[in-house]
Amino acid sequence: MLEVSNLHAQYGQSRILHGVDLTIPAGEIVSLVGRNGVGRSTTLKAIVGLVQTSEGSVRVSGTELRGKRTFEIIRNGIGYVPEERDVFHNLTVEENLLLGVRKPRTGTRAWTVGEMFEFFPGLERRRLSLAGTLSGGEQQMLTLCRSLLGNPAILLIDEPTEGLAPLIVERLVEVIREIRNRGVTILLVEQKMTIALSISDRVDVMGYGRIVFSGPPAELQDNRDVQRRWLEVSDAA
Ligand SMILES: Nc1ncnc2c1ncn2[C@@H]1O[C@H](COP(=O)(O)OP(=O)(O)OP(=O)(O)O)[C@@H](O)[C@H]1O
Ligand SMILES: [Mg+2]
Repeated sequence: MLEVSNLHAQYGQSRILHGVDLTIPAGEIVSLVGRNGVGRSTTLKAIVGLVQTSEGSVRVSGTELRGKRTFEIIRNGIGYVPEERDVFHNLTVEENLLLGVRKPRTGTRAWTVGEMFEFFPGLERRRLSLAGTLSGGEQQMLTLCRSLLGNPAILLIDEPTEGLAPLIVERLVEVIREIRNRGVTILLVEQKMTIALSISDRVDVMGYGRIVFSGPPAELQDNRDVQRRWLEVSDAA
């Protein structure tokens, strides 16, 4: 469903992606893991056209998206939840959510604001609060919900659990599973190996600017060599 091949990307003169290949089958969760600075966030940004790419392709159901503007890419059914919480501080929680609403693709049921509040009751309690007054965790949830209300076919999520309390992490992981169960395809950048291994259908390991391993979680757990070279061993065990 999402097919990235031989993707090259750079910031100015600094080349970061050297031919990334990723296949995310429809309805699956694929996690992208790897050490800090290897280019995981850059991969997501390159997919949605926020970083300059020089070569390769990004296809959604066969349609080429590389080179298109970000708004067009999003219109083609890709949602992006950035690492940095992306809320409008001076708008209320509800207003932030309503700004994300887009018509669903034909044949799919639209997500509702009510469902977002069921996912995260804390957001409903703060419905009329300014988003800037929310905690970091609440802003993270709000960012995710706003993207989801755009009814994407594919959701790219960058380190949603970073810096959050364990209970909130647990809830987020449940919600991500529920989103997938409703048919949304997910590419997740996740630093915590236990989460990446438990939630994913497939895990892709990134080395410097390219994918160095791709397989089901069990295969990665068995592959000490990849763990040692590209991940923190103790964490992946
Ligand atoms: N705006 C930018 N301008 C120049 N270089 C950048 C920019 N953003 C990231 N980089 C560089 O690109 C490389 C990959 O960064 P990226 O953010 O993709 O890493 P990452 O794998 O997401 O890791 P982490 O999230 O832990 O930082 C790093 O060397 C980083 O310094
Ligand atoms: Mg990152």
